[in-house]
Amino acid sequence: MDIMEIIDDKKAYIDLLLLGDEQEDMIDKYLNIGKMFVLLDKGAVIGQCVVTNEGQGVYEIKNISVSVAYQRQGYGRVLLDYVYNYFGDLNALYVGTGDSQKTIVFYEACGFVKSHIVENFFTDNYNHEIVEDGHILKDMVYLRRSK
Ligand SMILES: CC(C)(COP(=O)(O)OP(=O)(O)OC[C@H]1O[C@@H](n2cnc3c(N)ncnc32)[C@H](O)[C@@H]1OP(=O)(O)O)[C@@H](O)C(=O)NCCC(=O)NCCS
Repeated sequence: MDIMEIIDDKKAYIDLLLLGDEQEDMIDKYLNIGKMFVLLDKGAVIGQCVVTNEGQGVYEIKNISVSVAYQRQGYGRVLLDYVYNYFGDLNALYVGTGDSQKTIVFYEACGFVKSHIVENFFTDNYNHEIVEDGHILKDMVYLRRSK
């Protein structure tokens, strides 16, 4: 297993990016300003993570995904830990997600705690309904992991 940063042609990983965030023009808002890391297993890219520097030691995960066939094998946790330890000045790592138990449980299992809510984020910013675990996403739930 290996993790490397992608500098050029981040869109080569669009399938994985869309797994984490299903609307491409939303991905375009952070892909260029974010640092992108991919996780490789036996030379194949099976996971990715995009993180932005929000200033003053605050970083934010904008997108994270692991290929379906490789989920629940610890790769997502490895990516989160890698990002958390990558930036020397990191004080807090945030992630925003839909109000979906599955993903919130994942982040909590990886040391994140609930921080705040941005109301109507999904209904205001996405051009179609985002359905996860059978319900329509409305608010963005932010979680934080702090040093
Ligand atoms: C969310 C995602 C990145 C997690 O990656 P992963 O490699 O499957 O997660 P891990 O195997 O590292 O899980 C770590 C821990 O989180 C918890 N967890 C992860 N997925 C879970 C699930 N579906 N249900 C319950 N707990 C879960 C478990 O405690 C797990 O540890 P365990 O397997 O030892 O019990 C991956 O499922 C994914 O790509 N999903 C689709 C895209 C997505 O939803 N991205 C997030 C958008 S904000």
